Amino acid sequence: MTDIFTLGAKIKQANAQLQLFTENFDSFWDKEIKQLFTDESLSFRVKTLNGNYVKYVNLDNGATTTPFAALKQYVDEMLDTYGSVHRGSGQKSVITTREYDASRNIIRDFVGSSPQNYVIFAKNTTEAINGAATLWAKKPGKILVSDIEHSSNLLPWITRDEVVQYKTQPDGSVSLTEIENIFKTHQNRPQAEQIKLLTITGASTITGYRPPIYELAALAHRYGAKIFADVCQLIQHERVDMRPDDDPCHLDFVAFSGHKMYAPYGTGVLLGPKEFFDSSYPYQIGGGNLPYITRNLEIKRFYTERAHDPGTPNAMGAIAIAKAIQIIEGLGRSRIAQYEHSLVEFTFTRLASTPGVKVHIAGDNLAHVIPFDIDGFDGRLVAEILAQEYGIGVRAGAFCTYEYIRKLKNISDEQDLEIANEVDKGITRNIPSIIRASFAVYNTLEDCDRFISAIAQIAKNGFDYYLPYYTQDDTTGVWTVVDR
Ligand SMILES: Cc1ncc(COP(=O)(O)O)c(C=O)c1O
Repeated sequence: MTDIFTLGAKIKQANAQLQLFTENFDSFWDKEIKQLFTDESLSFRVKTLNGNYVKYVNLDNGATTTPFAALKQYVDEMLDTYGSVHRGSGQKSVITTREYDASRNIIRDFVGSSPQNYVIFAKNTTEAINGAATLWAKKPGKILVSDIEHSSNLLPWITRDEVVQYKTQPDGSVSLTEIENIFKTHQNRPQAEQIKLLTITGASTITGYRPPIYELAALAHRYGAKIFADVCQLIQHERVDMRPDDDPCHLDFVAFSGHKMYAPYGTGVLLGPKEFFDSSYPYQIGGGNLPYITRNLEIKRFYTERAHDPGTPNAMGAIAIAKAIQIIEGLGRSRIAQYEHSLVEFTFTRLASTPGVKVHIAGDNLAHVIPFDIDGFDGRLVAEILAQEYGIGVRAGAFCTYEYIRKLKNISDEQDLEIANEVDKGITRNIPSIIRASFAVYNTLEDCDRFISAIAQIAKNGFDYYLPYYTQDDTTGVWTVVDR
C-alpha cells in the first residue's frame, strides 16, 4: 500500500467530526485484516478488456461479503464430526448439537440480547422477516412500515397483514414527530386498528442512512407497540444492541444475514421475545419441532426455540455465523466502523468533487455505502465499464428499494405509472437505478484510489466515448460489451 499516512491525514482533515481511524492503516490491514481472509480471495485477479489481469476490487459488499478464511477451515473441521442435531445420542450428534446450541448464545451476546429472546434460524434476512410477518399476522393490529425499506422488510408485511406506510422526508430521513403522529392517530381506535409493530431498517441499503432505531423503539413502546429492526446492513459495521427488556429503547426483534457478515453458509437470524414465539403457533411444522402427536392427531408442542426450528437445521450455517461473530468481536466493531468510515469519507470527498459525478447523499451521516451517478450515463453502463475495464465490482440498479430510488431520482407519479405500464409489457429498461459502492473491512485506501480514478476517467471520457464498445438490451436495459 502506498502513501497511506498522507491519505490518512487527508481524511482526518476532511471531516473532523466523523469517527475516523486513528491507528496506522498499514499495520491494521497487514497485521489484523489480511490474515482473516484467504490470499486467493483478497488478491483474486480478473482479466480486463485490454487483456491485462488486475486485482479485483470488491465494492459490492452491501450485497454480500467474502468469507472469513477461518470459517472455511472451521466448517471443514466441523464436517468431520458432523452428526444430526437434537436427534441422535451418538458422539457426532452430541458434538454438532452442542456447537449448534452454543451458537445461539454467541448470537444473543453479540446483539446485547437478554436470555428471554429466542434465536430463530432462517436462511437469510428475507426468510427471517417472512417468518416473523407470518406470526405477527395472527395478532390483532397494524404494522407501521417506512417507505425506505428493502423489499424484504416490506413485502412480507404487506402481503400478510394490515399495513400503514410511513412516508419519510424527501431525502429519506425519518421524522420522529411524524411517526408519533401516526401512533397518536391510531391510539384510541379498536385494537385491530392500533399499531402493533413498527418495522424499520437499521441502515438503508442504498444510502447507508441509519434511522434512529433506539428513539423509535422508545416511541413505539410508549404507544404499546413493539419494534422490529432489520439490521442486516448495519450489524457487520457497527454495534447493534437490543438492550435490556425493561429499557424503553430496547429492540424487540432484530433480523440479519450471515452472508453479509463474512459467513455465507446459508443462515440468517431472527431474534425476538420468548413470550411472542411461545404464544405463536410455528408457521412451519414437521420433524424435530414438536415432541409428540397423539393417536388422535393432537399435536403437543415445545415451548422453546425448537418449536420454530423445523426439520434438520443448517447447523454449519449457524456455527459459521457464531464463528464470524467471534472474529468480528476480536477486531472490535468500533474499530471496524472507524476504519470503514475513513475509507468511505475519503472516497466520498473525492467523488463529490469529481466533475460530472452526482453523489446522492449529503455526506453528513456517512456509513458504508456511497450511492452516485455520472451525468449522461445509465448507471448500469458505469457498473459494466468498471467491471470490464477496471476489474472493480459495484452494483447498479434499484436495490429492491423502489420508493427510496424514486425519491432520490425525483420520479413523478406519471413516470412511475409509465414505468409500471412498461414493466407489464416486460420492459424493465427504464426502472430507475443508481450506482452503489459499498465497503467492507477488507477494502483498502488503494481500492478507493483505483475506484475514484476509474470514475473520474469514465466521467471525463463521457457517454459517447463508450457507445461503440457497449450495447444496451432494449427490453432489460442490461449493457454488454460489443463483440470485436
Ligand atoms: C436492508 C436489507 N434488508 C434485507 C435484505 C435482504 O437480505 P437477504 O438477501 O440476506 O435476505 C437486504 C439485502 O441487501 C438489505 O439490504
